[in-house]
Amino acid sequence: MSELTLSGRSRIAGVMGWPVAHSRSPRLHGYWLRTHGIDGAYIPLPVRPEQFAIALRALPMLGFAGVNVTVPHKEAALAAVNRSDAAARRIGAVNTIVIMPDGTLDGRNSDGFGFEENLRAAIPSWSPTTGPAVILGAGGAARAIAVSLLEGGAPEIRLVNRTIERAERLSREIGGPFRIYSWSARTSALADAALLVNTTTLGMSGQPALELPLDRLPTTAVVNDIVYSPLETALLATAKGRGNATVDGLGMLLHQARPGFAAWFGVEPTVTPELRRFVLEAPG
Ligand code: ATR
Repeated sequence: MSELTLSGRSRIAGVMGWPVAHSRSPRLHGYWLRTHGIDGAYIPLPVRPEQFAIALRALPMLGFAGVNVTVPHKEAALAAVNRSDAAARRIGAVNTIVIMPDGTLDGRNSDGFGFEENLRAAIPSWSPTTGPAVILGAGGAARAIAVSLLEGGAPEIRLVNRTIERAERLSREIGGPFRIYSWSARTSALADAALLVNTTTLGMSGQPALELPLDRLPTTAVVNDIVYSPLETALLATAKGRGNATVDGLGMLLHQARPGFAAWFGVEPTVTPELRRFVLEAPG
């Protein structure tokens, strides 16, 4: 990778979050900037929730090309942008903002795109139309994944969440062939499923284990954990052991970053094994 010094013409983007220190996005975009020899920078922007709207409004005045938005600002970003794409509106959140030449803010959501591209990259024959999908969790990631699956033609989405009201709200707001399962009924959701996705924090380093016997899951089902620390979660190890195809969560993070990078820096970046290694080497 070549060293590059910024010039007066550098394109600048970044990630707004609170906290933001744990974000791997600066490392990810920094890798692409260097490998493509682009005169640009992607910086962490720690922004408090109460100052988010004003910080966002300042970006066009500071000459930014755009930003990613992460926890806890994604919903506020949807309300703050001048226009948003259909995916962002249906998900109810924005994760990518492009600053237009006239200084207006264009809000997009690439989380569902990242999810789908990651599955397709890992299993080229995968299709959401194959059969019922089970989503564990009902937070922001679950919303983006549900929208992606529905738009891809999934026949049924089984939502399993500890707080059942949250799953009901997701189903009501997004609309579609949802079936809701309580956390205690989670194993019954696995019967005849074609896809199982964990979007909860269970199984993440430092969090409680995900306790989910897979006996009722067909061995033809694809199992995806969006947790990527550790990269091979207990869920993925168990699934692999019984013959299910498995997909880890790092790729969703890497693929969701592609549209923003292309819009801000004018180059379509690719997700490579070297990029995966480089991003994984980061502490935290
Ligand atoms: P994100 O927006 O990143 O998807 P989130 O909103 O923090 O994340 O959601 C985390 C998910 O993990 C939620 O579905 C949460 O369940 P609740 O909606 O009931 O809070 C789930 N989760 C976290 N800890 C859990 C636990 N101990 N048992 C079951 N589910 C848990």
